[in-house]
Amino acid sequence: MYYFIEPMSEDDIAEVQEIEAQSFPSSWSATTYKRELRNTATSRYLVVRMSSTPPPAQIEPTPTPRWPGFLNHIRAALFPPTSESTHSCPIIGYGGVWLTVDDAHITTIAVDPRFRGYGVGELLLNGLIDAAYDLEAKMLTLEVRVSNTVAQRLYVKYGFQPGGTRRRYYTDNGEDALIMWTERIDAPEYHALLAELRRQLYTRLQRQAEEITPAPESPE
Ligand SMILES: CC(C)(COP(=O)(O)OP(=O)(O)OC[C@H]1O[C@@H](n2cnc3c(N)ncnc32)[C@H](O)[C@@H]1OP(=O)(O)O)[C@@H](O)C(=O)NCCC(=O)NCCS
Repeated sequence: MYYFIEPMSEDDIAEVQEIEAQSFPSSWSATTYKRELRNTATSRYLVVRMSSTPPPAQIEPTPTPRWPGFLNHIRAALFPPTSESTHSCPIIGYGGVWLTVDDAHITTIAVDPRFRGYGVGELLLNGLIDAAYDLEAKMLTLEVRVSNTVAQRLYVKYGFQPGGTRRRYYTDNGEDALIMWTERIDAPEYHALLAELRRQLYTRLQRQAEEITPAPESPE
C-alpha cells in the first residue's frame, strides 16, 4: 500500500472528522478546521492518503520545504508524476502544527485505527516537522495524555522529552497532560537524528509498498 502526504483542504474536513471521532473523545467543529486552514501565516494541516497503486503527484506543486525536503524526496522516489487527481484516495491520517513565536506546537495528529502500526503516524510527524521548518520554528512542542504511551514513544523517537505537566488538562476525564519539547530543530544534532530516522522510515515505506503491490509482468 502507498501512503502519501498532502496539505489538508476544506473538502477533506468531513473525512478527517471521521478519523478524529475514532481517535479522540472530543472533536473540533468544521468551523474550527476552516479557521485553522485559512490561517496560513501560522498553521499547517496535512492529510495522509492511501492508494493500492502508485498515486499521482499533485497537479499544483507544493512549496518546497526549506530543509531537508523529505516529503518531496519520498514523493519523487515512490510516485511518478501524472496529472490525475488524488481526491479519490481515502484519507487515513491527519495532523496539524501551529507556530507560537519560535515554537511549533503540534496541535493534533491521528491515524485511522485500521492503519496504525504501518509508519503512517511517523510519516505524518515528519510532514509536521517539515511544516515547522517551513514556518521557521526553532523548537517543537506538544501536549499528550500521561496515559498515552504509544504516542509518547513516537515523540521520544523524534527527540521530544518531557518538560512538565499541565494538571487536569483534559476536560473529559480530568487527566494530566505531559508537555514535551524537542531541542532546537536547527541544531546539527537534530538534523542528524532526523536524517537517520527518515532514512529508516523511507526504507520501511518503500518495502511495504513493494511487498503489497504486485510487480509488473515481464514481457514474453
Ligand atoms: C499515535 C499515533 C498517531 C501513531 O500512529 P501509527 O501510525 O500507529 O504509528 P507508527 O506505525 O508510525 O509508529 C511510529 C512509532 O510510534 C510508536 N508506536 C506505534 N504503535 C505503538 C504501539 N502499539 N506500542 C508502542 N509504541 C508504538 C513507536 O515508537 C513507533 O516506532 P517503531 O515502529 O520504531 O517502534 C496513533 O496511534 C493514533 O492515531 N493514536 C490515536 C490518536 C492519538 O493518540 N494522537 C496523539 C495525540 S497527542
